[in-house]
Amino acid sequence: MRKVTLIEGDGIGPEITEAICRIFEAAKVPIEWERENAGQTTLAERGELIPESLIESITRNQVALKGPITTPVGKGFKSINVQLRKTFDLYQNVRPCKTTQGVDSKFDNVDIVLFRENIEGLYSGIEFYDDRLEMSDSIARITKKGCERIVKAAFDYAQKYGRNKVTLVHKANILKGAGGLFLNAGKEIGENYPDIVFDDKIIDNMCMQLVIKPEQFGVVVTTNLFGDILSDLCAGLVGGLGVVAGANIGDDVAIFEAVHGSAPDIAGKGIANPTALLRSAVMMLYHIDLSEYAERIDAALNNTLKNKIDCTGDLGGNANTEQFTQKIIENLN
Ligand code: NAI
Ligand code: MG
Repeated sequence: MRKVTLIEGDGIGPEITEAICRIFEAAKVPIEWERENAGQTTLAERGELIPESLIESITRNQVALKGPITTPVGKGFKSINVQLRKTFDLYQNVRPCKTTQGVDSKFDNVDIVLFRENIEGLYSGIEFYDDRLEMSDSIARITKKGCERIVKAAFDYAQKYGRNKVTLVHKANILKGAGGLFLNAGKEIGENYPDIVFDDKIIDNMCMQLVIKPEQFGVVVTTNLFGDILSDLCAGLVGGLGVVAGANIGDDVAIFEAVHGSAPDIAGKGIANPTALLRSAVMMLYHIDLSEYAERIDAALNNTLKNKIDCTGDLGGNANTEQFTQKIIENLN
């Protein structure tokens, strides 16, 4: 049995991870969870936000499923998500955004997979303040290697899943340095994939095109800041953050997580929607070559989503987390 690290997280984290565990058990997925935690709970219990045992567990297992974590507000607390990305060099942030029958959205044929560079660019953490001159610099540093590996990841994905186009999003017309490096790396890498069309779009035009005609896009790759913004925009095209999965992937380690946060306003009420985390868990199953199980669970989820009434309140239904989970389990067969 393959071991996978499970991070419950904070707020609604324990409720939605429990739902995933039940569905996986019912589907007889051949993995064994290794339970670790991070965030407020471990801070209160053990005085640390990211325990060493968690890092060891992820290093050993190389794959983790993570519930949302509340980042404490205040000095000295760095984002746990950012720390995990840096520790394990998780340079790809992958977000599939696809319309689902039964989930309200303005479009009915969106199928975009966004690859966001996850480490460099404006989020590289290189910042300067000059108190005397009252000015500040936030440096958008990127490397050729960093550009090449995220673009290559997007092309490899397109090839694997039979997508015929990769769209690279940039602002190289103004940001000649970092933007130019990214665009050129994309053109070069693209030459190795003669069957896939390389397309590039300037970020502002891309935003307009996405909200007018999103079906023209498939695999999209971009730098960190643009990717952060575009990924939420794309989530909005298919029903919002409650239904969108995410993965942070490196060469050795991958961490799968829902895109939404710990939802403290509804935590403990048993009404949270597990869809986004379940979809992240399905991505994880594809990643570890358990595609058969991934397909079956995904189909059960999509069938459940078709009947709004069986879904949680945020999707317009009457069910609580437990009832919604039970329906998905029934639909496995
Ligand atoms: P949030 O995503 O937790 O909540 C926003 C709204 O969406 C709330 O009304 C919430 O009830 C609702 N919501 C979110 N997920 C839901 C679900 N699965 N089912 C039903 N309703 C859901 O964002 P917010 O309030 O800005 O952040 C709360 C905490 O989460 C903060 O401490 C933040 O730092 C953390 N956070 C953690 C993330 C992570 O670990 N990946 C990502 C985003 C935020
Ligand atoms: Mg974001």
